[in-house]
Amino acid sequence: MRTMKLLLQAMAFGILLIAVILTFGSFGVFHPVPWFLFAALIGIPVINNKMEERRYITWKAKYNTGIKDVDTEHMALINLINRLQLAVRYHQGECFEQEALEELVEYTATHFRREEKLMLAHDYPAYKYHKELHDEMTRDVMTHVARFKDEGHTALVDLAPIIAKWLTNHICVEDQAFAEYYLEKEQNKETEQQKVTA
Ligand SMILES: [Fe+2]
Ligand SMILES: [Fe+2]
Repeated sequence: MRTMKLLLQAMAFGILLIAVILTFGSFGVFHPVPWFLFAALIGIPVINNKMEERRYITWKAKYNTGIKDVDTEHMALINLINRLQLAVRYHQGECFEQEALEELVEYTATHFRREEKLMLAHDYPAYKYHKELHDEMTRDVMTHVARFKDEGHTALVDLAPIIAKWLTNHICVEDQAFAEYYLEKEQNKETEQQKVTA
């Protein structure tokens, strides 16, 4: 499918290139038509590249929670999601896809466990709700893993964008809410200690 798309794009590019040469030859350099075709020839690959870039997540300042370990893990998760997207998008073969999928699933589980442990250690009031969201996401991803075993590549086509959307929303809302609680608690603890030692 992807190879076919690339072939069609190459053909369209070739046709456009020939059209540019022919129209410059027939109309001359002062006619707008060859210039319009020339702009399309240059612009289409640029737009294509931009669209391709949008398929991958890049780290944004709004994802910073202020908890160093949590942020490091979120960055690692984003890298793994991008790796899965790359493997699926370029059809790198089911072996690569499986490796990328397994690593993402394992690391997600590790991250969820660590985050939940931190919440429990700090008596986070919304722990149960937050854990439910983690569990729900894990169940959804495991459905795709099971489908991948039966259907192969097809089961993963939409998975990376789904996880990416879920993760970035989750970081911005629920993880940030926990970070706010955690950092405030840590700050209060520090103030209390300073009072004792003063
Ligand atoms: Fe979380
Ligand atoms: Fe998280």
